[in-house]
Amino acid sequence: MQLSDKKAMLSFSDGGESIELPVYKGTVGPDVIDIRKLYGQTGMFTYDPGFLATASCESSITYIDGDKGELLYRGYPIDQLAESCDFLDVCYLLLNGELPNKEQKADFDGQITYHTMVHEQLHTFLRGFRRDAHPMAVLTGLVGALSAFYHDSTDITNPEHRHISAIRLIAKMPTLVAMAYKYSLGQPSIYPRNDLTYTGNFLRMMFATPCEEYEVNDVVERALDRIFILHADHEQNASTSTVRLCGSSGTSPFAAIAAGVACLWGPAHGGANEAALQMLEELQANGGVAKVGEFMNKVKDKSSGVRLMGFGHRVYKNYDPRARLMQETCKEVLEALGLQNDPLFKLAMELERIALEDPYFVERKLYPNVDFYSGIVQRAIGIPTSLFTAIFALARTVGWIAQWNEMLSDSDYKIGRPRQLYTGSPSRDVPANR
Ligand code: ACO
Repeated sequence: MQLSDKKAMLSFSDGGESIELPVYKGTVGPDVIDIRKLYGQTGMFTYDPGFLATASCESSITYIDGDKGELLYRGYPIDQLAESCDFLDVCYLLLNGELPNKEQKADFDGQITYHTMVHEQLHTFLRGFRRDAHPMAVLTGLVGALSAFYHDSTDITNPEHRHISAIRLIAKMPTLVAMAYKYSLGQPSIYPRNDLTYTGNFLRMMFATPCEEYEVNDVVERALDRIFILHADHEQNASTSTVRLCGSSGTSPFAAIAAGVACLWGPAHGGANEAALQMLEELQANGGVAKVGEFMNKVKDKSSGVRLMGFGHRVYKNYDPRARLMQETCKEVLEALGLQNDPLFKLAMELERIALEDPYFVERKLYPNVDFYSGIVQRAIGIPTSLFTAIFALARTVGWIAQWNEMLSDSDYKIGRPRQLYTGSPSRDVPANR
């Protein structure tokens, strides 16, 4: 961290002594005021529920400029990565800080491929779930269970162990997601095949059966790979912060990632693309493009409780760069699959066109986010809506594990332990005669 020449001064209206707080500079983005000694100096905490103005850590992995609509992984713009790299290049980059050269890439691909299979007993564990369980419930259980199967790499103080856990998690996640899907269908799991790419292998595990081979379609493979790239990391979002907080106690990496999966499940986080697709389907069933105007009036009427799902973002106050890439991919996939007249895509384009011109959305800086088009792409590929968040979890695993590793490698790291403003009863005695 680089100390700024500037200092923050905190003074109190009751004439109490003012204090000076150090300010640190980032490479880009807002500076931070260091309040670590605030309690010691003033006996006061800061109050920031939802972390609206609090940097919870120092990180050099991902940077978002919400006003510009910019997303950088290790400094590289997301659109350049999406256009010239595959998902495993991006995994290597997030974990190691640099893009791999040819040899490093071949070695990394080999390591991931070698670890795609899961312990056979995990299949027995899977059978304990109801077939109609939500895939995210199953995935939370399966990822947590990995800690019971891979005891040889859970010394979190050993960088080599951390590396093996990272590789195992990235490699096994597609296998677990496909297992959860096959189980829900009552079909046998398909074992990974090492001659396929990471994403091609996942598609095959999802859609092949023992009686019928699955031919991987290049456009579909590239589209899903792009979905993985776009979801790989997003700095200190809710699930990543959960992984950091959970991991800060020194727990097993598999347990920390299971906590991230559980957090991602929520509709305000990973569940939004499911909600966006449902909204499009409902609108289509109720009149489609002809009813867009009426629907938009409802969205703008606060008393209706209706929101344009897939629009707006806490950080992006400009076009989400991932949404632009997703829209492009959506067109490619629909064309390749002969679905160019897909009514939901037309509906989405029309909603976007209207919203980008409507003062309600313009004034509030509401733009499409990544979820607006990703549901249409996944639906076209044949992925059921209930599995969308599990796909997101698969992609985000690398971000979680890179952030967890960064935290543990930091000599300043401490167990996370927020404080509170207590507003309950002061100390009182239990009545003698209850
Ligand atoms: N449709 C209609 N109005 C909206 C929408 C929307 N999608 N999003 C925000 N607004 C309005 C709000 O009503 C509010 O209006 P007001 O100022 O008149 O009260 C204003 O815009 C600001 O909205 P907030 O909810 O305060 O903004 P916040 O940053 O807290 O919310 C969020 C961001 C939760 C993403 C919100 O935009 C939303 O609900 N979007 C729809 C759900 C969605 O697509 N989520 C995906 C997020 S991306 C991801 O997780 C990968």
